[in-house]
Amino acid sequence: MAPAISSSTTLHSREEAKEMEQVEIDWENLGFGLTPTDYMYIMKCNKGDEFSEGHIVPYGNIELSPASVVLNYGQGLFEGLKAYRREDGKLILFRPDQNASRLQIGAERMCMPSPSVNQFIDAVKETVLANKRWIPPSGKGSLYIRPLLIGTGSSLGISPAPEYTFIIYASPVNKYFKEGSAPLSLYVEDEFDRASRGGVGCVKSITNYGQALRPLTRAKSRGFSDVLFLDSVTGKYIEEASAANVFVVKDKKICTAPTKGTILPGVTRSSIIEIARDHGYEVEERMVEIQELLSADEAFCTGTAVVVAPIGSVTYQGKRVEYEAGDNLVYKKLLSTYTGIQKGEIEDKKGWIVEINQSSS
Ligand code: COI
Repeated sequence: MAPAISSSTTLHSREEAKEMEQVEIDWENLGFGLTPTDYMYIMKCNKGDEFSEGHIVPYGNIELSPASVVLNYGQGLFEGLKAYRREDGKLILFRPDQNASRLQIGAERMCMPSPSVNQFIDAVKETVLANKRWIPPSGKGSLYIRPLLIGTGSSLGISPAPEYTFIIYASPVNKYFKEGSAPLSLYVEDEFDRASRGGVGCVKSITNYGQALRPLTRAKSRGFSDVLFLDSVTGKYIEEASAANVFVVKDKKICTAPTKGTILPGVTRSSIIEIARDHGYEVEERMVEIQELLSADEAFCTGTAVVVAPIGSVTYQGKRVEYEAGDNLVYKKLLSTYTGIQKGEIEDKKGWIVEINQSSS
């Protein structure tokens, strides 16, 4: 049975919504807040079955049993990807297959069935087209797409849910940090950990983010942009920020933590590694000591929401280290190639861009 929906938005009929080219919102001041759109996608399946047929429904609340496994035991994953409106009017996605496969890997870890890669991509496309009028004008941001895979069936004891729901909703967004494109100040967290050995840090489990709330809130209340977590075994190696992977540059060599267990394999992370190697940089995926970050020439974060953001300072055990600004920073070259491919200004030789066919809308 589909969840009951109570829509809180002013909804036009699907046909009417499709006709309207664009909503009128203050695109200049769009940050990373939730702006509810017209529609969302829902697909359900029972334990032991496969996902088969999903639907676009009006955006709104879903009804859940208080005994659902996602609420009680955190059996849930999410994804994040963006749809862009190009200057020529084309709508594109960036490497949606990577999000689909990461969801499948995460689903296996969390004992959940998952949509196939094609089902995932088709569902994302349908969601984007249904909410087309919410995609920001070219250069003003993107439509952030949030797929969720959750155990909606009930269980009192700890066991995988008897029923699963795959939902996709979307929101127009622009810059993730209030700093905009200005360098970030990171607080190195040495009390709370993000992920532990053998845990779920390497998949996009909803539980990875709830536990970041306290350190993140504390860091923000002290004026920092974000926290940087350390490894939970020795506290010596950098892991990632609350919503982004972290890169360190020293003598033109780029290093980032390896995706072995506690690090999320970010789609932006892997794209930036590839772009950096194409530019001739040596990139090492290895454990990076906090001391290396403190003595680096440059550092930056990557993530779908964050994109590629420079780090301006890092504070660790009361000591603040600042990085030099300048036009020759490595991140600038990588960011410009990355966005150039997305905007269609640089040829997509890698097949990363997926165009959404608007005639099927
Ligand atoms: C993303 O970059 O899509 C994320 O997962 C960030 C999110 C936690 C805000």
